[in-house]
Amino acid sequence: MARIVYVNGHYMDEQQATVSVFDRGFLFGDAVYEVTAVIDGKLWDLEDHLHRLRRSCAGLELDCPWSEDELREMHHTLVAKNQLREGVVYLQLSRGNAGDRDFSYADTAVPPTLVMFTQQKALVDTPKAREGLRMITRPDVRWQRRDLKTVSLLAASMALTEARRQGADDALLVENGMITEGTSSNVFIVTQDDTVITRPLGSGILPGTTRRLLLELIAHNNLHLSERVFTPEEARRAKEVFISSTTALIMSVVELDGCVIGSGAPGPVATALRNGLIRWIRHDE
Ligand code: PDD
Repeated sequence: MARIVYVNGHYMDEQQATVSVFDRGFLFGDAVYEVTAVIDGKLWDLEDHLHRLRRSCAGLELDCPWSEDELREMHHTLVAKNQLREGVVYLQLSRGNAGDRDFSYADTAVPPTLVMFTQQKALVDTPKAREGLRMITRPDVRWQRRDLKTVSLLAASMALTEARRQGADDALLVENGMITEGTSSNVFIVTQDDTVITRPLGSGILPGTTRRLLLELIAHNNLHLSERVFTPEEARRAKEVFISSTTALIMSVVELDGCVIGSGAPGPVATALRNGLIRWIRHDE
């Protein structure tokens, strides 16, 4: 079945979908995005993603003329048209085709470009969720507004590519000696005295939708949480390290920079939280 994508008000076969070479998303990375999970054919936590989309738009002074209801409807339509059972819906909103290349967007008064597509992907039952991830640390050379979900992802792509080249699954990013986040995930550690630690929100990391749910789950499981920064050394010595994201849900990191973490297998805290999250998703109506 050919994939049906959405471009500026129209649903079409992916082969027919085009965006202008003058689109500011293409020329300047002047665009925001969201990735929402689909599990058992249902969109998960869409409201939180739409809320963050508004926040990212506000941060870039980017106008989103579509209402929440319209965006919700488009997500559901795309899932139905593509008969998606498990995977993601990707949404990208750029400042549009300004007709020429100009660094300033002060006088850009053109309609934005909205593109959406689905991607089939196993999220719940995956080998990496069972085995855990092997990671390396890399310097965080991204820009200073990581709290906005913009498409300028080159630094993250480079860190992930380097990790894969070194035989690892992914990278944790380090700035001023402290872990910020993964290339596309938030990071948690469990200390020897069973406290869960994660970096506080701020311009250094993305306010993850899964992170927010995880904090609720952590409280529900009566685990002790501390939102503070931590070093790679603390992570390597932790009982457990795990990441959270829409696509990974919660996944354990079992090796960091060649050091085995804990028993070298997904630990009890990450496993309980992942199972709890999946139960939550499956029973959510
Ligand atoms: N990325 N931090 C970064 C830098 C991310 O790119 C992501 C998600 C997260 C986790 O956010 P959430 O829990 O809302 O997915 C944290 C998505 C999945 C992506 O770019 O594909």
